[in-house]
Amino acid sequence: MDDIEKRLLIHEHVIRIPGMRRHVLCQFGDTHITTWDGLSTPEEKKRAEKGSANWIETRKMFADLHGEPCGPYQMRDHMEILDDLFTVAGKADMVAMVGDMMDAVTPADLRAMEKRLEMLEVPYVIACGNHEKKGTVPEGLRFSIVNRKVQTAEDDELRMICLDNADRSVSGDQLSVLRDSFKDHKKTVVVFHVPFVTEGNREEMEKAGEYFWFNYPGCPVENLELLKIIRENRNDIAMVLAGHLHFMNDSKIVDGVMQYVSSQGITGYMNRFVIGEG
Ligand SMILES: [Fe+2]
Ligand SMILES: [Fe+2]
Repeated sequence: MDDIEKRLLIHEHVIRIPGMRRHVLCQFGDTHITTWDGLSTPEEKKRAEKGSANWIETRKMFADLHGEPCGPYQMRDHMEILDDLFTVAGKADMVAMVGDMMDAVTPADLRAMEKRLEMLEVPYVIACGNHEKKGTVPEGLRFSIVNRKVQTAEDDELRMICLDNADRSVSGDQLSVLRDSFKDHKKTVVVFHVPFVTEGNREEMEKAGEYFWFNYPGCPVENLELLKIIRENRNDIAMVLAGHLHFMNDSKIVDGVMQYVSSQGITGYMNRFVIGEG
């Protein structure tokens, strides 16, 4: 393990898929960047400094609440942690960013993210988080893919399909695209921001509150339809990835498919998967 990996909280997973060559996929999200640079106005700088100071408290609050590490490495400058996450992710074969990458989508946040995405030379998706909805992401940037209701990134053997469910809903159109994508039976990683309550995580999710649930009581029928599509296509799904919780949670979403929720990237949390024959 090199120095960068020691500073992060990397959780390793193996998804065995016979007949598929080894793929490494990194998942991280909830980095909540709130930064400023030389182009920021004094007002923007002041707001970013206040925002990142708030997140020092908030990340600690989440970590303490869920018994996750919160030592000196996790309390570092959040942009330094972001750089470490991108360095490790850059060595993978694919990257899934699970949303809330930015706290309030400022021009400086967009510039900072763009610089890092420019260096990322592997296929990636970026789920839209509820915090990305707090601002407007202009078109024409690499980060602008968060504006798409469905994103796909793939190589010859493995596909990531990413749905915007940030406002705790999905549309019939999004579900049609997802359903159609399974027609060729390519192994697929399904990615979104807000996770499902499952049998295995119900207790933790009840403690966290309905704000964090995608299949909350009284949710639109499409939310439950998404679960049905996952169940029907379980043989083609390698795993389901989400964020939003600010604590890590692995649970079975349907028979044969796990939902991996990564904890807060702002403390350096990352899931790293080896998928394939190992
Ligand atoms: Fe978040
Ligand atoms: Fe969120």
